[in-house]
Amino acid sequence: MENDKKIIFSATQPSGKITLGNYLGAMRNWVRLQDDYNALYCVADMHAITVRQNPADLRRQSMELFAQFIACGLDPEKSIIFIQSHVPQHAELAWILNCYTMYGELSRMTQFKDKSASHADNVNAGLFTYPALMAADILLYGTHCVPVGEDQRQHVELARNIAQRFNSVYGDVFTMPEAVIPKVAARVMSLSEPEKKMSKSNPNENSYVLVMDKPDAIMRKFKRAVTDSEGGIYRSPEKPGVSNLIEIYSAVTGKTFEEVENEFAGKGYGDFKPAVGEAVVECLRPIREETERLLADKASLEALYRQGAEKAANIAYKTLRKVHKKVGFASR
Ligand code: TRP
Repeated sequence: MENDKKIIFSATQPSGKITLGNYLGAMRNWVRLQDDYNALYCVADMHAITVRQNPADLRRQSMELFAQFIACGLDPEKSIIFIQSHVPQHAELAWILNCYTMYGELSRMTQFKDKSASHADNVNAGLFTYPALMAADILLYGTHCVPVGEDQRQHVELARNIAQRFNSVYGDVFTMPEAVIPKVAARVMSLSEPEKKMSKSNPNENSYVLVMDKPDAIMRKFKRAVTDSEGGIYRSPEKPGVSNLIEIYSAVTGKTFEEVENEFAGKGYGDFKPAVGEAVVECLRPIREETERLLADKASLEALYRQGAEKAANIAYKTLRKVHKKVGFASR
């Protein structure tokens, strides 16, 4: 890693498929950050098992997510790209940080409250201490910035509190991380209920577009996208469906909202919706094709993720050694 650059760390759980919303809202931003920062990007498979997973699905999804990271433009030469469970220091530091994290703090996490309500039959200890593992992810690498969505802000705040608590006892061990939440992130809404965020957990498959969707599926979903009966193609709070389509079209073509509105002035939804579909198809096509190519070449993919894990472990191991010494573990 280059010394003069700040460090960023982020991760995604391989607990499902990546949507157009995930790509435009998060991953595309990660790609841009690679030049200005020393970046680490991680497939958070250990977080994923805090809810029950089918083992074969989890393994496949981890591979697919790793391949998608690279296909989207995360560059293993510039950034460290790896799978969380391949770097054992994450689990080791998480245990230690658990002992510096308070029951009350964890009880206040909104994600824990939401997930324990939606998985009432499996409120396990891992789900509860999830934020301590996330703090370990971040703190192992001297991370300065954590690019995440608003929903993860509370977890990054907790990581700061844990770091502060540890540092106040043992001196300057951890760098204080900061959440960076993109101000103008493309917020991609559901195609069927445009008041809601696009989400793969919506039971209606037509409500979201997956990065791996084939062109005909993408076209079908955009042709069915919910609009309104007024007919004009412009952004307005009264037109959430049309506004969402304009924003998606703008995000994938790089055109401004005004340019999009001018382009479709006087046209109808019958022209507009397929045009958005086409633009999304062309944006996602190279990513899907490159992901498929990478997944078909298992040996190269393995070499890439092993190399990523090795680079990550080389940094993580130094932090962990320092921590062991501070807390008083006998030297190995
Ligand atoms: N909890 C994050 C999510 O569900 C994923 C994650 C795991 C993460 N470890 C992280 C994000 C560390 C940022 C930093 O989206």
